[in-house]
Order: sequence, then structure tokens, then C-alpha cells
Amino acid sequence: MAENEIVGTIYFAENTDILKSLPSASVDLIYIDPPFNTGKVQQRAQLRTVQSNSGDRVGFQGRRYETIVLGRRGFPDFFDDYLAFLEPRLAEAHRVLAPHGSFYFHVDYREVHYCKVLLDAIFGRDAFLNEIIWAYDYGGRPKTKWPPKHDNILFYVKDPTNYIFNYDEIERIPYMAPGLVGPEKAARGKIPTDTWWHTIVPTNSSEKTGYPTQKPLGILRRIVQASSRPGDLVLDFFAGSGTTGAACLALGRRFILVDNNQEALEVMARRFAGIAGIRWIGFNPGPHHPPHKQPALFGALMQQEG
Ligand SMILES: C[S@@+](CC[C@H](N)C(=O)[O-])C[C@H]1O[C@@H](n2cnc3c(N)ncnc32)[C@H](O)[C@@H]1O
Repeated sequence: MAENEIVGTIYFAENTDILKSLPSASVDLIYIDPPFNTGKVQQRAQLRTVQSNSGDRVGFQGRRYETIVLGRRGFPDFFDDYLAFLEPRLAEAHRVLAPHGSFYFHVDYREVHYCKVLLDAIFGRDAFLNEIIWAYDYGGRPKTKWPPKHDNILFYVKDPTNYIFNYDEIERIPYMAPGLVGPEKAARGKIPTDTWWHTIVPTNSSEKTGYPTQKPLGILRRIVQASSRPGDLVLDFFAGSGTTGAACLALGRRFILVDNNQEALEVMARRFAGIAGIRWIGFNPGPHHPPHKQPALFGALMQQEG
């Protein structure tokens, strides 16, 4: 990256406002993971375990510990009319997408069918390429139905005759039965299908930001790697903890992230602390950066909205 080059722009804003301000056909790849309309407030508690004589957990050498709640992060996830909320944003997404651009829409089993019909109307049925099933195995298991353990990612392109799909760059995965394919193929691994087995972000991993509904970096890496080229511009206008930005930074793509929740911006400020070339609009990340991780270009690039 050249010195002073802007690799990413992060907006604290209502996404319709930013979408309307972007030029038509200016973005190479869009991934969005809107609230799923679960009817709940999505919330995560931030916990810390501290040594305490009155603690209820006993650890090494009989020391006692208690877990304290540092705070809670969340955003509302209920809509009277979910499709009416999505429709103008999806229409704008289609407008700003480049002629060779790709669009990934992440949702769950409750809304996916309604969203597919809406997206077919906006992109055209022939522009629909895949429904990716992200399968995981974590969390509660109801005894009254099959435990739902997958999300759905709808993959559209603007033009089904001309789009980016870097088949040879997709990271290969191990064969399920390597003994059946011979040693050479087994060593090379296989290209993933439309069913992606991938763990959720593990609770104690360094990847965990504490933001509710954070998606795994591995899922975003795969999308960004397959459907954009180095230097391309990637947009996520429901950014949350900024996973799309993290994948772009790892793979040398530029990005625009938008979220209207102050807590999401605070999480992104911590996640991207120390990274040069990020422009913050409408939000001052400084107070949320650890002192030793102030980004080099922070002073030059921070802007206030308006
Ligand atoms: C499911 S989360 C995204 C999680 C993200 N993919 C990640 O890995 O962290 C959806 C996000 O959309 C944001 N959001 C909801 N409505 C919005 C709007 N109208 N404008 C901007 N952001 C919005 C919420 O604040 C929330 O952070």
C-alpha cells in the first residue's frame, strides 16, 4: 500500500444516506448481513473473570473467581415490515454495483424465501447463482423440531455473462474421505461446494470482538477472495463488528463499511486500532484505541460528518 493511501472508509450513519451518496456502478463486491428479523434484541454481555474470595468458581490451587458483567452490546432486530425495510436498500445496492460486480446477502431460514423473491425482482432471476448454506453446530438444541444450524447466503451477480469468480484462488479444503481420491488429490484438497461447514467465532478466540451476530472471518475471506480482485472496492452497509473490513485488509481489497449503531463503531475502532489508511466519518475512533495502537494517519484522516 502506498503511503497515505486510504484503504477503508467507515461511516457511523444510516445506510440509506450513504448508499444514495455513492456513484452508480462504483463498487466491485457487496456483502451484507442485515438484522435477521428474529423479533429479539440481539445482545451479548462482555464478561471478565476476576479473583474474588467470595467467587462461586474454584480454580487452580483452590483460588476462587467470580464473573462480572462489564457491559452489554446490542441492536434491535424486529421489523413490522422487513421487506419494506430491505427493498430500498437492495435497490440502491444494485445501482452502486459495478457491471461485473457480485452481491452476497446473508440471512437465515426464517426470511430467506421472502428475500429471494425480492432479490429476484431487483437483480433478475438469471442473476441468481447460488444459495450458500453455512452450516455450524453450536448452541441450544430444541427438542420440538430439528435444531436449525445453518445460515443462508444468497449470491447474485449484476451480469451473469460477465463477473469475477477467482476459481483458482479459492482456498481448498480437505476431502471428507481422502482415502477415496488418491494421495495427490487428497494433498491438494478440494474446492468447497455451496455448503460451507465452518465453526462460529469461538468464544475464547482472538477473533471474538464481543459484538452480537459477529460472523467468522473465514466465511468473509472466502467470499472476498472468490468474488473480487486485489485493490477492488468492497461495500458492507450493515457492518457490525467490521468482519468484511478485516477480510479486505487481509486480502488487499479496499472497503466501505456503514453502521448506525455507536457500539458497532466502538468495536470496529478497537478491531482496526493501529491500522493506517482508515478514514472515519461521523465517529472519532481515538478514545477507543488502546494508547499504544493509535494509527499513524489518524489525525490526517479523521473527518466529522456534515
Ligand atoms: C447482523 S449485524 C452485522 C454483523 C456483521 N456481519 C459482523 O460480522 O459483525 C447487522 C448490523 O446492521 C446494523 N444496522 C441495522 N440497521 C441499519 C441501518 N439502517 N443503517 C446502518 N446500519 C444498520 C446494526 O447496527 C448491526 O450492527
